[in-house]
Amino acid sequence: MDWGMKNRISRIIKPETGRTVMLAVDHGYFLGPTTGLEEPTKIIADLVPHADSLMLTRGILRTSVIPESNVPIVLRVSGGNSIIGDDLSNETITVSVEDAIRLNVSAVALSIYVGSKYEHQTLKNLATLVSECERYGIPVLAVTAVGKEMARDAKYLSLACRIAAELGAHIVKTYYCEDFEKVVKTCPVPVVIAGGKKISEKDALELAYNAIKHGAAGVDMGRNIFQSKDPVGMIKAVRSIVHENVSADKAYKTLKI
Ligand code: R5P
Repeated sequence: MDWGMKNRISRIIKPETGRTVMLAVDHGYFLGPTTGLEEPTKIIADLVPHADSLMLTRGILRTSVIPESNVPIVLRVSGGNSIIGDDLSNETITVSVEDAIRLNVSAVALSIYVGSKYEHQTLKNLATLVSECERYGIPVLAVTAVGKEMARDAKYLSLACRIAAELGAHIVKTYYCEDFEKVVKTCPVPVVIAGGKKISEKDALELAYNAIKHGAAGVDMGRNIFQSKDPVGMIKAVRSIVHENVSADKAYKTLKI
């Protein structure tokens, strides 16, 4: 791995702990004005000081984050679908690597849909993106998106994560599940978890705690932070779990809800 690639990865996964708190605010790419992100500028500004990186689309980066912000960017570069469209798995690469470099990103992110109608297309997107990004030392985060009919269990998620790593992803994002350590053990690159739909703050913190305990390199969490009644308190609580091994109970007690 070359210097640039290592340097960019270390901007995302903090060398001090080997872990990361990524703030995901890319939902609009297929959900439009998602609850909590209707007007993203303020909520992003409030949360950025507590995030190790920001995952978002180029449109929201350009319009809603000040260029002087020093936060490492993980740029979503796949999409082309919508929640009311034909099939969510019908994704393409939406941003050139040249534009990603112009935006000075630390990594790019792309979804794969293993077991879905457009599985092959999304896996080909990943392989193509990795080959292109390797030329410039840009890490690729593969998002293992789960189709409606797919079970989020260790068997399926291990399959999706391992395929992502085999195709060259440098970091893989997936969901927490029972026997999560099997997913981590069989994936040769760091695994981070998504938060998923909004659940209670207590449950979301327990999810983060369990994921870390079972080997996750961190979280790439969105709705359970920006849709919380105390978004800043929530990201700080998640940080304490990820970087300081604080218990979910102790972290929960710090929230103002
Ligand atoms: C999908 O919309 C995106 O990749 C999200 O960034 C991802 O699902 C993480 O966000 P959340 O914690 O809200 O699931």
